[in-house]
Amino acid sequence: MPLVTSKEMFAKAYDGGYAIGAFNVNNMEIIQGITEAAAELNAPLILQVSKGARAYANRTYLMKLVEAAVIETGLPICLHLDHGDSYDLCKACVDDGFTSVMIDQSSKPFEENIEVTKQVVAYAHDHGAVVEAELGTLSGIEDEISHAVGSYTRPEEVEEFVSRTGVDSLAIAIGTSHGAYKFKPEQCTRNADGVLVPPPLRFDILEEVSRRLPGFPIVLHGSSSVPQEFVKIINEHGGNMPNAVGVPEDQLRHAAKLSVCKINIDSDLRLAMTAGIRQYFDEHPEHFDPRQYLKPARANIKALVKHKIVDVLGCDGKA
Ligand code: G3H
Ligand code: 13P
Ligand code: ZN
Repeated sequence: MPLVTSKEMFAKAYDGGYAIGAFNVNNMEIIQGITEAAAELNAPLILQVSKGARAYANRTYLMKLVEAAVIETGLPICLHLDHGDSYDLCKACVDDGFTSVMIDQSSKPFEENIEVTKQVVAYAHDHGAVVEAELGTLSGIEDEISHAVGSYTRPEEVEEFVSRTGVDSLAIAIGTSHGAYKFKPEQCTRNADGVLVPPPLRFDILEEVSRRLPGFPIVLHGSSSVPQEFVKIINEHGGNMPNAVGVPEDQLRHAAKLSVCKINIDSDLRLAMTAGIRQYFDEHPEHFDPRQYLKPARANIKALVKHKIVDVLGCDGKA
């Protein structure tokens, strides 16, 4: 089966009350861990490549690794550009064979966001690809793509944005953010074990957006949950990640039952991989073969993605 767009995946997810996982990929082991998990659970899948990933691995390697995963698994896989920051980058990815692109002009004024998104939609649709755009900004500090201070999506803008751009899905800001430090300790309470409990997502905004855009697929970025078991392993084996905290999984599960059809996860993969490698090095200081320490890292990713598919996204058996 060739790469697919997310169109049919989202239609089925919307009606079925589940979401598709959009996992960021940067190298072979990450791609293998994710796709083996999805294949074993017969789950539809979005693999997404950021501008930074494309610069790190180079455009051809990631493309070919994803094509290899399609051959190996036979799964419907959508290859998506994450946080495209210009028309030219989106066009280049469509030309390379991506079936979906995100044009992220969320930090720009409304009219400018519409203008650039419209241009990307015209090109992508002409070439059989679909487009995600964003309204509202996520807070968080990570690379080039987020802002120190976020702003929630304004539901009163979504109908005009979608109808004027012709976009296929919309990312909204309801309190998630990128990275492993999504909430400051002072924004949280602590449970009996002293673990940070973040404030709830703004489901009122999500519900108002869905009321205004019935049947339209919504996307949540910044949806890692920062599993505390990985943070603990990292910290016990030489790492230093104090107060790392993510979005509780039960809230993502709830969002997936509503209009959220795509849930973006990157940081949890990074934590799974780093925990596996740190633990391995600590336990086997004499080893130096990358295959030895990347194997448990890849296994951690596979187990994490299986858990997300079954317990958070609810998309097992939906491919
Ligand atoms: O939302 C952003 C993703 O986590 C990608 O991050 O730009 O470091 O590849 P990156
Ligand atoms: P996390 O940092 O929460 O994994 O978010 C990833 C993301 O939104 C990619 O676009
Ligand atoms: Zn994102």
